[in-house]
Amino acid sequence: MVKPFIMGTRNAGQFLYAGAENLRDGGSALDAVEAATRLVESNPDDTSVGLSGIPNLFGVQEMDASIMCGRTLGAGTVGAVKGFLHPISVARKVLEEAPHVMLVAEGAELFARAMGMEEGDLSTDTSRKVYETFVKDAFEHEEIDESQQWIVNYARSQNMREWYDRLADHHHGTVNVMAMDENGDIASAVSTSGTALKFPGRLGDSPIIGAGNYCDNRYGAACCTGRGELAIRNSTARTIIHYMEDGLSAREAAFRAMKDIHALKTYGGMNCIVFDPKGNTVSATTREDRESVHWYMASDMKEPELRTGINVKP
Ligand code: GLY
Repeated sequence: MVKPFIMGTRNAGQFLYAGAENLRDGGSALDAVEAATRLVESNPDDTSVGLSGIPNLFGVQEMDASIMCGRTLGAGTVGAVKGFLHPISVARKVLEEAPHVMLVAEGAELFARAMGMEEGDLSTDTSRKVYETFVKDAFEHEEIDESQQWIVNYARSQNMREWYDRLADHHHGTVNVMAMDENGDIASAVSTSGTALKFPGRLGDSPIIGAGNYCDNRYGAACCTGRGELAIRNSTARTIIHYMEDGLSAREAAFRAMKDIHALKTYGGMNCIVFDPKGNTVSATTREDRESVHWYMASDMKEPELRTGINVKP
């Protein structure tokens, strides 16, 4: 019998306690992943998720989040949502209350308000400073002009793809949290403010089921961080689960999915965390300059354990 456990990305480590406690008390995997993700969203030192999240091109914070239930294959996701403190809880409400899987922008905000979700200002001195620094770096010290016309002019005069390539690989971050409870039910959660200076309305892989998030009680869970456009193109999370369904181990599936990302021959890094229902965990990255790690915590452990994953070369 596999003990209930929770795992997460590098930035989830200290927050897995909340989920592990939940699992220890007989809570569901969905409750566990939501609880841990909410704490990451509230961490003002993490500029990639929730409070203090990286703003878009116009300095506005647009959040993406998703949550999936591996027993029912039900999912709830929100994209480009503004002004709500816990996008993951809005996504959970979509999973449980909405007749839809995915809501974006004003529609998602309308729904969240109707559901009584907590509203608030996610910007902080840190996020404002990060934005100003990015703008200065990205636009070679052009002035920030409130009319935003300069950005439009800039976009017209440049090769936007090249410019975004430079940016996208350095300034992003996302949290992934996945868990299995005492009933063997699996859940997975992803939350992010997306890539720095993303174009307004841009969605990454995080709110797209099958791209940045997927789980299925029969085979396991897989979530992604990194340049979301790549995971969208390869349906990376679903593909990893599919590889496991075909008989690959979690490690082999993660390795192969990162090879698939290299095959796109597009600039940018991709990372994944994966587990199977036997409790085998792995993380993998296409990056060579950074070690792949993930946190693991079984419900009876006192502290989360940092595990090293695999670096996958082209
Ligand atoms: N993986 C997060 C994003 O691309 O927005």
